[in-house]
Amino acid sequence: MVQATYHFPDGFLWGTATAAHQVEGGNDNNNWSRWEAEPGHILNGDRSGSACDWWRGRWKEDLDRAAETGQNAHRLSIEWSRVQPAPDRWDEDALDHYREIIRGMRARGLTPMVTLHHFTDPLWFYDQGGWEQEAAPALFEQFALRAVEAFKEMVNLWVTVNEPNVYVFSGYMGKDFPPGKSDTNAAFAVMRNLIRGHAAAYRAIKRVQKNSSVGFALNYRSIKPASASPFDHALAKFAHNSFNDSFARTLQTGVLRFSAKRAAIPEALGTQDYLGVNYYTRDLVRFAPLARKDMFVKRAFPPGAELSPNGFIANVPDGLFEALHWASQYNLPIYITENGIEDSTDELRPRYLVEHLHQVWRAVNFTYPVRGYFHWSLVDNFEWERGWSQRFGLWGLDVQTQARIRRRSVDVYAEICRQNAISAEMVQRYAPESFDRLFPDR
Ligand code: GAL
Repeated sequence: MVQATYHFPDGFLWGTATAAHQVEGGNDNNNWSRWEAEPGHILNGDRSGSACDWWRGRWKEDLDRAAETGQNAHRLSIEWSRVQPAPDRWDEDALDHYREIIRGMRARGLTPMVTLHHFTDPLWFYDQGGWEQEAAPALFEQFALRAVEAFKEMVNLWVTVNEPNVYVFSGYMGKDFPPGKSDTNAAFAVMRNLIRGHAAAYRAIKRVQKNSSVGFALNYRSIKPASASPFDHALAKFAHNSFNDSFARTLQTGVLRFSAKRAAIPEALGTQDYLGVNYYTRDLVRFAPLARKDMFVKRAFPPGAELSPNGFIANVPDGLFEALHWASQYNLPIYITENGIEDSTDELRPRYLVEHLHQVWRAVNFTYPVRGYFHWSLVDNFEWERGWSQRFGLWGLDVQTQARIRRRSVDVYAEICRQNAISAEMVQRYAPESFDRLFPDR
């Protein structure tokens, strides 16, 4: 058997990622709580409910598990609707609560990465027009300022906005997220305001904390043409530019190009210190002249790719390399801010994990400046419009009893984190089917 070990750089961050609404529970003051309560929005009528019960204290046990299993970082988000429950009210108790959690992370040896906006909006903000309103960036800036003031002694790694592309496509073009619109003008306005909001938050954080590292987290979807046809090629390029490239590109050029529209946003120039990449899977796209309602695009996973139990994700590890290659053009540090798979039986996850981390190791050796990896997620949590039907946790969750279930993936990830490396011996033990791909004998 091949004996080899793939080492990661010293100081590499190994963690998991979570988001407030998906783990905290007990919040009825944001747009998702309302969306969940309206029939027909969430698969099986699921509700986030108590979620993973973090707000009432179970963050402690989950972060104990993270630290005990070799992780040295954690990415979490701060829920705006808790910190600013009404336009004229800031909740100091909520800020204290988050201070306690972040202090708890540091006490456990977990470097905090803090996200300010992870899909949810306070109801007051949403009801006055959400990110469509011109005032949105300035309102978000005030929240960012409160957060950096509150946590500056403990945090210097910030994510302004999580997956603005998913927020826009799912809420304003695809109807999966609130407000469930299908309106390209609104989508463009929201994209523009999210960029302005990001830029305003970036500058607010920098005013308070010069040595901070501030960026956003992009959902990078690998998009390839399904055939050699020039139509499919043009379509793939268009989709890549709109979905993957537009936000980060605007921060470099000061001009947003999204869909067929453009807008100058000069204040966005230079407002990222790193690239945050969330990568899950790849699509092949085909021009379909009859598919009007799908905007003439047919999407499919690459033929033969292994699929997750609900068919939501195909295991395509080299798409992560592609994403890191794309990110490297910006000449900034890169963090993989999410990567993972829904798999309640944990049959596929160990394989998905080692194969994706192998691609991260390759990228590091191509000298792409990758500084850390955050697996989605630490424990099963509420998966938005898919409710509880999809299980992304290293740890399983029994939603009724709140019991945590240790999956084998916990152990494989723990060994990788502890050794800061992937060894042939580990892969042989946890994911033997991946062995020949990762450790070919010649
Ligand atoms: C991402 C999102 C996360 C999580 C994950 C898995 O798009 O940022 O909140 O839900 O997908 O579905």
